[in-house]
Amino acid sequence: MKVREILVTSALPYANGYIHLGHLVEYIQTDIWVRAMKAQGHQVTYVCADDAHGTAIMLKAQDNGITPEEQIATVKASHEADFAKFLINFDNYHSTHSEENKEFSELIYRRLSSAGHISTKDVEQLFDPEKQLFLADRFVKGTCPECGSADQYGDNCEVCGTTYNATELKNPQSTLSGATPILKTSKHYFFNLPEFEQFLKDWTRSDNRLQTSVANKLQEWFEAGLATWDISRDAPYFGFQIPDTPSDEPDKYFYVWLDAPVGYMASFKNLCDKRAGTDNALDFDRYWMQENEHKTEVYHFIGKDIVYFHALFWPAMLAGSELRTPTGVFAHGFLMVNGEKMSKSRGTFIKAETYAEHLHPEYLRYYFASKLSDKVEDINLDLEDFMQKVNSDLVGKVVNIASRSAGFLVKKYDGMLSEICVESELLEDITKTGDEIAAAYENREFSRAMRLIMQCADKANEYIDAKKPWSLAKLEGTEQEVQDVCSVAINIFRQLMVYLAPVLPELTNNAKAFLNIDSLDFASRNQWLLGHKINKFKPLMQRIEEKDIEAMVEDSKASLTQADAPAATDNSKPTAKDKASATDASTDAEQADYIGIEDFAKVEMKVAHVVACNHVEGADKLLQFTLDVGEDKPRNVFSGIRKFYEPEQLVNKKVICVTNLAPRKMKFGVSEGMVLSTGDPKTGLTVVTLPDACVVGDVLA
Ligand code: MSP
Ligand code: ZN
Repeated sequence: MKVREILVTSALPYANGYIHLGHLVEYIQTDIWVRAMKAQGHQVTYVCADDAHGTAIMLKAQDNGITPEEQIATVKASHEADFAKFLINFDNYHSTHSEENKEFSELIYRRLSSAGHISTKDVEQLFDPEKQLFLADRFVKGTCPECGSADQYGDNCEVCGTTYNATELKNPQSTLSGATPILKTSKHYFFNLPEFEQFLKDWTRSDNRLQTSVANKLQEWFEAGLATWDISRDAPYFGFQIPDTPSDEPDKYFYVWLDAPVGYMASFKNLCDKRAGTDNALDFDRYWMQENEHKTEVYHFIGKDIVYFHALFWPAMLAGSELRTPTGVFAHGFLMVNGEKMSKSRGTFIKAETYAEHLHPEYLRYYFASKLSDKVEDINLDLEDFMQKVNSDLVGKVVNIASRSAGFLVKKYDGMLSEICVESELLEDITKTGDEIAAAYENREFSRAMRLIMQCADKANEYIDAKKPWSLAKLEGTEQEVQDVCSVAINIFRQLMVYLAPVLPELTNNAKAFLNIDSLDFASRNQWLLGHKINKFKPLMQRIEEKDIEAMVEDSKASLTQADAPAATDNSKPTAKDKASATDASTDAEQADYIGIEDFAKVEMKVAHVVACNHVEGADKLLQFTLDVGEDKPRNVFSGIRKFYEPEQLVNKKVICVTNLAPRKMKFGVSEGMVLSTGDPKTGLTVVTLPDACVVGDVLA
């Protein structure tokens, strides 16, 4: 067999949020593939890193009162801890904020630039005059220029679906400060993607690099026409400065998505340096130089939302700088929980950490494996089905084979298996199925692999059920037969451990000790266990209990407060304009049922003094307030509380007034705010009054 040299990556998670079960679809998928390919004897290297740059991270650090470097170090440690819990076996985990990445990003940029693939253009953009920074689309909200819906982001309208430029929004507001942005022009650097159109068309269609649905999506993008890509951002920005820019011009930084994929190379280089001079040294050039393109393989596992970056920009950047392009890009779908988008209020937006506090990570690895295919389809984690499937397949079928047969062997035969296999046809059949399972793993058809494995387990259980060693053992003169039957069962169990090792590394590793074998590699299964001694059996997996799932869901509701919710990012998702979504993936922020802190921060509430309060002629529900909110002029506010108060009761009280509510024209005049009350407008409202010590005009926060 030819040993293939393969470099594998998963997308680099952003350093401004925690790992959740959605992310884990990808890292578990990749990890299983890597382990399966390693088990087939290939030389596979799996690298990843934190994606550390961008405005979002810079702002998050500011909020936390720490430097961006401190911010990304903390997050990296927590990401690595989460990945370790889920048994994601990276060969290296690095950061895009690293020396290697700076070097390669500059190298690629310089090569692109000297080959004429970079141009500059003045760009007019919204600028936050308070925060003193240019606002990415996600940091602007306003009224849709098309349908007039309020509160829409700067890239597209969620109500009517129109895409537009942030500058077209009506009444734009910075989500960072609430300030009205101003228009400001600055010079931007662009990567001339259209120059790569022919290359990309050929690349896309050759060598089975992409899944069919992804290739079709690209076809649509080609037909719509490729556009130049804005790769620069103005200071302040957390990232790498663009080299060789005119010294009399303001500093420019690489847009986070320029250096993010370069992070794959950087992490690999970092590993090459760590391993230099050791037995498993790696040659960087062999994987990345164009002339070696056919000696080694490079695969990127990604989510469907970032196809544009990986199947267009990245190969074009590599080709334009005379580096090798990826052998394949594999996209997966998004995670649904109980058939719906993950939801914070339903407790189905589950952090990796929260899951691991309640349930064994291998349950999830198995469940995802049983759902994953080579298609870009969304996968559904149905929590009820999850429990049933894991309990029935892993505990009920697989582990059961060993627990039903090991006892006899250890107790009566000192753990010795028979010298011969009395069911060689059955064992032969199961050994052979291993070839199909190996192929299914390699083709990323994990659900098919899991089905095949469970069919083997069914055969073993049928065999044991038919032979009934527990009854046989009670009869005279059946010693040999009992040992033979149990030995067949143990041999099948061992095959299953080999097949499941990529999915369940911990369980199978424990089984390895019990079986007293030293390898779980695919080829090792051809050597059956005959006249071999096994060790005492210990339970390998507990059943999932409903209460654990319930506790996890409850904890998820509780733990996901706004403070640690994934922030809206400038860099997070390709905007609609980037056309980056192969299908209709949405951002984490959009999946939440909560409003963001930035939404809450928009509501301005002030301490108000009731100067006067009166009935309103002709309005049987309203009281009219004259409120001092610390401004030059008092405000006129109507409130629907007449049924519950006499005006005198409220005069001279301190109340809460929402002061930035758009003025509402009513029959009796304009209402310039809202007085807050509690209760039910039908049965009784109580105006919230404040202690006298509260200062008129102070903002409530
Ligand atoms: N930082 C970029 C990737 C840069 S790669 C050079 C990014 N980060 S991310 O943290 O938002 O996502 C990391 C990976 O997890 C992406 O491939 C993304 O598609 C995947 N997923 C994030 N949420 C997901 C689900 N809810 N479901 C499935 N995969 C998801 O994008
Ligand atoms: Zn609209």
